[in-house]
Amino acid sequence: MTKEAARPPTRPPAADFGSGDFRFPSFDLRYESDGSRIAPLQFRSYEIFSGKPAVDPAQPAYYVEASDEATTLRVDLWDPLTDLRMELWYTVYHEYDIITRRAVVVNSSPGAVTLRSIMSATVDLPNAKHHYTMSHLSGSWARERLLTSDRLHVGTKSIHSRRGASSHQHNPFFIISDGDYSEHSGDHYAFSLVYAGGFLGHAEMTQTGHLRLAMGIDPMTFEWNLASGDAFIAPEIALAYSHAGVGEISRQLHRLMRTRLVRGNFRDRRRPTLVNSWEAMYFDVSEDRIVEDLAIPAAELGIELVVLDDGWFGERNNDRSSLGDWWPNPEKFPNGLAGVAERVRALGLEFGIWMEPEMISVDSDLYRAHPDWPLHVGQRPRTESRNQLVLDLSRPDVRDFVVDAVAAVLTSANISYLKWDFNRHLTEAGSAYFGAAQQGEIYHRFVLGVYDIMERLVTAFPNVLFESCSGGGGRYDPALLYYMPQVWTSDNTDAIARLKIQYGTSVAYPASTMSAHVTKSPNEQNGRTTTLATRGLVALGGVFGYELDLNVLDSQEQAQIRQQLALHNRIEDVVRTGDVYRLFSPYEPDPQQPRLTSWMYVAADRQRAVLFAFNSDYYELVWNNPRVVLRGLDPAAVYELYDDVQLKRYTLPGAVLMSAGVPVIFNRDGSSLFYEIVAQSKK
Ligand code: DGJ
Repeated sequence: MTKEAARPPTRPPAADFGSGDFRFPSFDLRYESDGSRIAPLQFRSYEIFSGKPAVDPAQPAYYVEASDEATTLRVDLWDPLTDLRMELWYTVYHEYDIITRRAVVVNSSPGAVTLRSIMSATVDLPNAKHHYTMSHLSGSWARERLLTSDRLHVGTKSIHSRRGASSHQHNPFFIISDGDYSEHSGDHYAFSLVYAGGFLGHAEMTQTGHLRLAMGIDPMTFEWNLASGDAFIAPEIALAYSHAGVGEISRQLHRLMRTRLVRGNFRDRRRPTLVNSWEAMYFDVSEDRIVEDLAIPAAELGIELVVLDDGWFGERNNDRSSLGDWWPNPEKFPNGLAGVAERVRALGLEFGIWMEPEMISVDSDLYRAHPDWPLHVGQRPRTESRNQLVLDLSRPDVRDFVVDAVAAVLTSANISYLKWDFNRHLTEAGSAYFGAAQQGEIYHRFVLGVYDIMERLVTAFPNVLFESCSGGGGRYDPALLYYMPQVWTSDNTDAIARLKIQYGTSVAYPASTMSAHVTKSPNEQNGRTTTLATRGLVALGGVFGYELDLNVLDSQEQAQIRQQLALHNRIEDVVRTGDVYRLFSPYEPDPQQPRLTSWMYVAADRQRAVLFAFNSDYYELVWNNPRVVLRGLDPAAVYELYDDVQLKRYTLPGAVLMSAGVPVIFNRDGSSLFYEIVAQSKK
């Protein structure tokens, strides 16, 4: 025997824990047979497939419609000492600089394994050409997804949610830029996790300047038991790259999300304009109020859908009761939901409803009948938030109840839209249904339960438009988009505050998903006064609707709303399916310039576009009028630019619009500007 052969085998460091790579590991597991956590995986084999196999039909994922759209590589790794295996699935979409990735742990070892963490992707980058910047979408209730950038130094920076939901505080999305964040130039890498639960996004710069990036389920709220033969499939992640700025990442991700993540009848369809009762009436809803104060004026204005928000069920007159008691309050709705829906429909409108199916009020018949149905840990006090608890969706019987309750509501009347709310995060995430060994799994089991009920319901009701919501935009993530094509972006409906929220959201998510409503002024949340024109134009950058008392509008406002609805009809397809170009950022004030926000959407054939610009400087008179230089147009085409009432302003070649731009003259706080841009041959 040679000296070398007598030594234990050596190998390059692997991304496991405890065998020589001291950075954040790709996974962490424990072999229960001997308590060891070392699992240095080695390459064993690979296979290439055309298309994209559905690795786990029970979890949301990007898909293909034809097998020539993508190619998938499966790499098989193993731990030769124990036989434990890992599959890494990489799908390259041919039309995009996007790879989706999925990790599967297969416990083919003879004993039990506890999975303590698993990242959906770990990516190592070499030293930066310039320096690395991490940008992400952070905030809180009413200020979700604000774009935040930090230069990375030696050490770690992470974003995370330990809340059992993707959360208002952080979004499962981040960008690493080689250099600074830049919309239009430079190398950028995006990580977008398809997961509705708690997550971790982690950047670690080592002493050598190398960067390790990881993203996956939040390890703090995760554990999974794998008996011999069991497998665990981690959530999918999309990894995007651009060498031409973050804008290009957004456009590519948006296209893929719109067409290969969002599903169902509404994916490619115009969404109805709606009026929602919440900011108009809060809990004080009734059949007569919905019909007389919302539906009749909505029909006169040309709005298409009336949504009955919170307050219609059980004894729900405030947020202290009745979640779970999903039957119409007989005093407010003496003829049930069918009665109000019929009266709304008789006016030529569609009817929609609000529910919060994952929740339970302690003051509810449901709780009185099933006190063990909320998430809870033994006899410990149950932490209420917004006076409610979260149902234990890890339990099949609770999931069946939720599916049946929602189905009963949807079949009780002619309902074509459901706003699905989720107003608190998870605490005491334990389950009376599972034994002690599985309590560490409940956070993830809850998320799988959410997927299960949503899949069953969207399959059973393909003609209902589902909009997800979570106290505003607290669960705006790719996983929810797989089930519901649009999301209530934020409870902050102030047009100026929305500029930062919608701008930040647009970095990761397409306008077709971003619900935006015109509400009253002064605004309910922050008291700011803005013009109806500006409120309309901000909301027209998303899925358009209204949320205010239509009865108090004067004739001038009614005329303006009719114009907004007509404008929406002309441009909604460009906003819904077009490419976004962010031109001026509300996050980058220049002391010499007004605080300008501007974005545009360009149709795929570049024959039509829309330009929005807003002055968000409070009470500042603007002497130094900037020009907005357009992007994404055909330089050789000649375009006509019309304002929102269709007055022609300019006729200019694309090359001029994309070099000289157009002037923006603002002389009022909160003023706005809009151009509908049409190539001459198209008019
Ligand atoms: C939070 C949502 O974001 C609001 O739009 C509204 O639906 C309320 N919940 C109702 O309780």
